Amino acid sequence: MPKVYFYPDNRGVEVEEGENIIRAAMLAGVHINASCGGTGTCGKCRVVVDKGETIKHATAKLTPEQVEQGYVLACTTQVKSDIEVRIPVETQMGDSRAALEREHRPVSRGSVLTSKDLSELFGDFDLEPATHRYYIEIAPPTLEDNLSDLERLKRELTRTHKVGEFTVDLDCLRRMAVRLREADWKVTATIMEGADGECPRLIRLDSGDRAQTHYGLAVDIGTTSVYVELIDLNTRESLGRVSEYNAQVSSGEDIISRIVYSLKNDGLERLQSLVVQTINGLIDRLLDKTGVQRDDIVYMVAAGNTTMVHLFYGINSRYIREEPYIPTVNFTPTVKASNLGIKIADGARIYCIPGRASYVGGDITSGLLASGVYKTDKLTLYIDVGTNGEMALGNAEWLLSCACSAGPAFEGGSVKHGMRAVKGAIETVRISTETLEPMILTIGQTKPKGVCGSGLIDTLAELFLTGIIDERGKFKLELGHPRIREGGGQGEYVLVWADESATKEDIVITEADIDNLIRTKGAIYAGITTLLDSMQMPVEAIERVLIAGGFGRYLELDQAITIGLLPEFTAEQVMYVGNGSLMGAHLVLLSQSARRSAKDIAQRMTYLELSTHPGFMDNYVSALFLPHTDIGAFPLVAQRVKERSGIYGSRDVR
Ligand code: FES
Repeated sequence: MPKVYFYPDNRGVEVEEGENIIRAAMLAGVHINASCGGTGTCGKCRVVVDKGETIKHATAKLTPEQVEQGYVLACTTQVKSDIEVRIPVETQMGDSRAALEREHRPVSRGSVLTSKDLSELFGDFDLEPATHRYYIEIAPPTLEDNLSDLERLKRELTRTHKVGEFTVDLDCLRRMAVRLREADWKVTATIMEGADGECPRLIRLDSGDRAQTHYGLAVDIGTTSVYVELIDLNTRESLGRVSEYNAQVSSGEDIISRIVYSLKNDGLERLQSLVVQTINGLIDRLLDKTGVQRDDIVYMVAAGNTTMVHLFYGINSRYIREEPYIPTVNFTPTVKASNLGIKIADGARIYCIPGRASYVGGDITSGLLASGVYKTDKLTLYIDVGTNGEMALGNAEWLLSCACSAGPAFEGGSVKHGMRAVKGAIETVRISTETLEPMILTIGQTKPKGVCGSGLIDTLAELFLTGIIDERGKFKLELGHPRIREGGGQGEYVLVWADESATKEDIVITEADIDNLIRTKGAIYAGITTLLDSMQMPVEAIERVLIAGGFGRYLELDQAITIGLLPEFTAEQVMYVGNGSLMGAHLVLLSQSARRSAKDIAQRMTYLELSTHPGFMDNYVSALFLPHTDIGAFPLVAQRVKERSGIYGSRDVR
């Protein structure tokens, strides 16, 4: 990998070939002015490449003289070989001291679970989907060979594909006579294996040979976002994955407000139809993208939290919210897609991965399955940071789970300029200790539109480390910096000025946003400590930490620890599993033994109800500080705070 060396900071970092200089600077802990999100429009990230090869892009932001002198824009210049980059004074803004401080806090992200890891996990299962498609050519009936249509079909399936006894869907049976004759007795039979001792079932009969067009959907129904992945059930190839906000968001951002909404008049029907509408919209996008036909999608496996699954099935979720918090069902039955309004093949089935309790649902079971927690010897903490902070602690011997109502702040909800992690979202933020100016990067390096989860955590950590906010998240307006101001009766920090944002308005983070973020991180931290307290274990007992959830992958461990979201884990302990819920659904779609394992996980997991747990509230209140009221539990953060505070304008900001 090429090495990028920065002067005068004297900091080097290795990056992939093709990476741009500004991202290399962030990794190296070098501050470069960058206020447009890396779109090449502000022209502030000028640097000089003294040595080595780069791929440059023409820009009107540099004069011909500057180009002659070797100036390039760091955000639009890609690294091709080892290079040396000089940061001119105006770009660096005298921030070499901040850069030096970063020697104490190298970027640590932990490792990411790759598709190779996933394929290793697949290796444990039988790779046998629950549906099969068989092409057969049946001899037409005669006066001598006068078996019924169904017996004739069974005889041929047994003869050519060794298919045993099966039952038939009534709809399929009603259409059978005409379908067989119209197809000239050349048909494809789709048979679904029975689960839990049930008999296999003929769910569909198609004209001609469709045995090679055999598809399924893995779906993650999140409170905020829904993901759908289309998978070839013959080759196991993933053909595409798309996501969208759950349309239910308009009826409430979190689980509780959805349940409340569902209890009004036709609220449940409306919420059911909204999530179905979201999933159907995503299916349409996948069909357009891949050319796959709707009638060839014969199976769907979904994972979601317990409330989402209840609402998807149209089941009353009222008692999930009322003490003693009992769901109608944890193990939902397999149902016909058409019964729920999902537009895939007639006769196709939907299976939802079982949950454990009202607030630990199939999404957690699914993640524990995909990440192999249920079969490891190592004591593992699995955390899914979504709208609800769900987590499990354990190993092959035992599993203890809980959930804390974290709120949607890390998914961009309840935050003024929060947004999902899509193009234009600010995902990385650094703030200069000396100038209090930000360095931001957006997803897709387009003009900033808002801030996604990882960007919010970064912002909170940087505001705290630079002393712009105090331990309670209150702004220090007395610093007298133009970006720190009062707006709408509260303090706020301007991340992007209106003329550089895609929305043409200032992108800010407010005190109310910070309160929400602190409550969210406090709930998650308190959940972790309460799980440990219940087992009378110290945090040091945890050997491995798996972080799931949309933004987990982009989360910087240092920043998460700085705000007190996580205890001081090391990068070696932490692994990001991405969307564990979707990965587990993917596995179950492809493997019947994975489905049995998921059931086993849900059955043997113990659930801890935090809302009535005597220790949880104390742990939560203690965690409503940055990083925590017990700074002794965060010695590295205490050190960082000491190193970075009080630099701006030589003021004592603490
Ligand atoms: Fe490079 Fe704005 S031009 S960050």
